[in-house]
Amino acid sequence: MSKKIAIFPGSFDPFTRGHEALVSETLRLFDKVVIGIGNNSAKAGLLTVENRQRLIEDLYRDESRIEVKVYSGLTGDFARAEGACAIIRGVRNTTDFEYERTMEAANHRLHPDIITVMLFTPAPVADISSSTVREILAYGRPVDEFMPDKISIKNYL
Ligand code: PNS
Repeated sequence: MSKKIAIFPGSFDPFTRGHEALVSETLRLFDKVVIGIGNNSAKAGLLTVENRQRLIEDLYRDESRIEVKVYSGLTGDFARAEGACAIIRGVRNTTDFEYERTMEAANHRLHPDIITVMLFTPAPVADISSSTVREILAYGRPVDEFMPDKISIKNYL
């Protein structure tokens, strides 16, 4: 039987405990997950795309079912190129939902055979967002509680 591959696309600026929880759940549903860092050159981030990738790779160094890639262009095209049958997105609240609904509709039109799977970000980490992490960092406060264990953001700034 062919392996079920999902992509988990995002900006991951930076990858947080919330993303980590979603990757764990994705691995319970799929054989492999490709974490795709969307390279949107118009959007200058906190971390360079290379450092975002390094952070995630450091976290999952021992996990053979996870790959980390940078892509540019459409997420659906990336999913197709990776042989994925699903696009994973995390949803925390209704604000996320509205955005995800629109994105799913476009992705579905372009690639009807690739299914968007929305996962609820688990409650203990559902308040975490990359933008909050960036904001707190901007004021010089520690962000360790938002980051996966073993990841120190200072190594990637
Ligand atoms: O973590 P984010 O910032 O919510 O991730 C957004 C991302 C990168 C997944 C989204 O902007 C995206 O898919 N960009 C690529 C362009 C695309 O495929 N758009 C949706 C269909 S028009």
